[in-house]
Amino acid sequence: MKLDRMRVNMFDLLLCITNAGDLISEEVANHHQQVAYLAFRIGERLGLQMQQKKDLLLAGLIHDIGAFALDERLALIENEPLSVHDHGHRGALLIKDFKPLARVAEVIRYHHVPWEHGKGRTVNGNEVSYLSHIIHLADRIVVSINHQQNVLVQVERIMREILAKKGSVYVPEAVDAVIDMSTHDYIWLDVTHQSLLHILSGLLAFDTMDLEIDEVIELTQIFAKIIDLRSPFTANHSVGVAKTAERLAQLMGFSETECKMMLIAGYLHDLGKLVISKDILHKQGNIDNEERIVIRSHTYYTYRLLENIKGFETINKWASFHHEKLNGQGYPFRLPGDSIPLGSRIMAVADVFTAITEDRPYRAGMPLEKALAVLDSMVTDGSLCPLVVAALKAHARDINEARKTAQRARVDDELTA
Ligand SMILES: [Fe+2]
Ligand SMILES: [Fe+2]
Ligand SMILES: [Fe+2]
Repeated sequence: MKLDRMRVNMFDLLLCITNAGDLISEEVANHHQQVAYLAFRIGERLGLQMQQKKDLLLAGLIHDIGAFALDERLALIENEPLSVHDHGHRGALLIKDFKPLARVAEVIRYHHVPWEHGKGRTVNGNEVSYLSHIIHLADRIVVSINHQQNVLVQVERIMREILAKKGSVYVPEAVDAVIDMSTHDYIWLDVTHQSLLHILSGLLAFDTMDLEIDEVIELTQIFAKIIDLRSPFTANHSVGVAKTAERLAQLMGFSETECKMMLIAGYLHDLGKLVISKDILHKQGNIDNEERIVIRSHTYYTYRLLENIKGFETINKWASFHHEKLNGQGYPFRLPGDSIPLGSRIMAVADVFTAITEDRPYRAGMPLEKALAVLDSMVTDGSLCPLVVAALKAHARDINEARKTAQRARVDDELTA
């Protein structure tokens, strides 16, 4: 199989990280999609340009991306903690260098700044985007909806609440726009609709949002940061796996595009860890049997999340099957060895190799010789593919250096420093 070109829709990609974040708890289910939708509708009422409405929708979709790795997440839903700007900043920092999202970064940076009768146009001398204020309002409205009750009977109360804060917390025109919309039942029913996603994707012509493969690499590298920030003991694991897997793919004769796809799959292989409770991930290295079983579900979620991305069929298999075993005893699909693609076998080796050689706060990485012996024993017990392990052993020093360099670069990064 030779693939030399792929295009991926940015909306699909953003949705997958958003959905991963929203799977953490039922309380926040669909939160990002709801804010995206409502912000778009407010923008529409205000007569904003298509470009701005599109920015609102994308900003809504990822506005709390800087909080995915943190315990702040639930606190944000319940009330507004004091350090509330931190996650906006962190979110902006994560995406600002990715060109297609540079404007969106500025929108999410200050999405909790109160209007204060116009003082909220700036914060500490920095300009606050007008769109940030719309996200703020949409976010607070969505949070105030009681999901146990029909939304329509709540509209009156919600209107009273935002009216009370018109000018002091929220931009007056935006509040007026929402009041105008309050009699449009479909807007409120859309916000709380189970299939909001279909409604959202219908709002914009997303065919103009296709990314080239190098842009997909850039964006998924950002996702890898978010995934790794969630597990403090493995703060640069995904880049190490990605680099190792890419090298192995080169050695196994994959095309240039396939090697790039392998890098992407490596960045995303542990995406499902965003769904695993932080309490468990923080204990890694010293976990009991029940916790081990819970962690096992991460590859299932990686699979289900990536499944929604058109053009990612192969990448999904390479990423999600990394705990499947040649002897058929792996998880979550218990695939027989002959159904495990070579790319997935490469990912399995890259994952084990990186996991045992990387340094973690509670232990130093294994010396190379010892690590190769572990891989050998895993070939013998039918876990890993002999061909891939042989390729790694033939270039072990070189691959190990590439892994270390990639992981070191991540440690120096402004977010993990
Ligand atoms: Fe927020
Ligand atoms: Fe894993
Ligand atoms: Fe992993």
